[in-house]
Amino acid sequence: MGDTKKPDKDSGNPPPRPLNPKQQSRRDFLEGAGTTAVVATAVPVLGISAANAQQANAVSGPTTSIRLTVNGVSHSVDVEDRWTLVELLRDQLDLTGTKIGCDRGECGACTVLMNGTPVYSCSQLAVWVDGAEITTVEGLAQNGQLSTVQQAFVDNNGPQCGFCTPGQLMTATALLNNTRSPSSDEVRSALVGNLCRCSNYNAIVEAVVSAGEKQGGAA
Ligand code: FES
Ligand code: FES
Repeated sequence: MGDTKKPDKDSGNPPPRPLNPKQQSRRDFLEGAGTTAVVATAVPVLGISAANAQQANAVSGPTTSIRLTVNGVSHSVDVEDRWTLVELLRDQLDLTGTKIGCDRGECGACTVLMNGTPVYSCSQLAVWVDGAEITTVEGLAQNGQLSTVQQAFVDNNGPQCGFCTPGQLMTATALLNNTRSPSSDEVRSALVGNLCRCSNYNAIVEAVVSAGEKQGGAA
């Protein structure tokens, strides 16, 4: 066993390493990773950035021209047919307030309003929103003033890490547009599709109820 680890006396080369992947050592792994790093650093030498190299490899599909209104601003955009609404918002329109959590219609982090109704923007193709009015979290504050529900989130410690907050705010906004002063049960029921990994549900419900009370009182 010891013999296989000794250098070849004639050539001075290291001994051959076992080919069985189960016997791969940490050193083998690091040497393999080194090869990858060399390839990555070679990309700029070829005169292209790593990002461009990746883009060149990306297959772009057919596109469709759509028109939509986002936060009151009209847009005419050529979208790839495979893009989701959240990709259009974040990557093309630079509206990164809308978050991607699960990217498969489970967590609600990507919730926006489509013609006033909350939708998961990760589960809507961009081509489907042709002619629609979209509201994102960036559209809630007006003239530098937080909306009532945004202010209520601040006052009631609604956000912890804050990742779910944009989606929670959009669903809560739709609820408050239709129900002026919802009960805590109505709030819980409306927000059932918006998960919070920080489990800050009590504070979120209190925030929405309090926003409803303020808004109900103002009516
Ligand atoms: S990111 Fe869309 S539902 Fe989770
Ligand atoms: S505040 Fe962190 S996920 Fe909800």
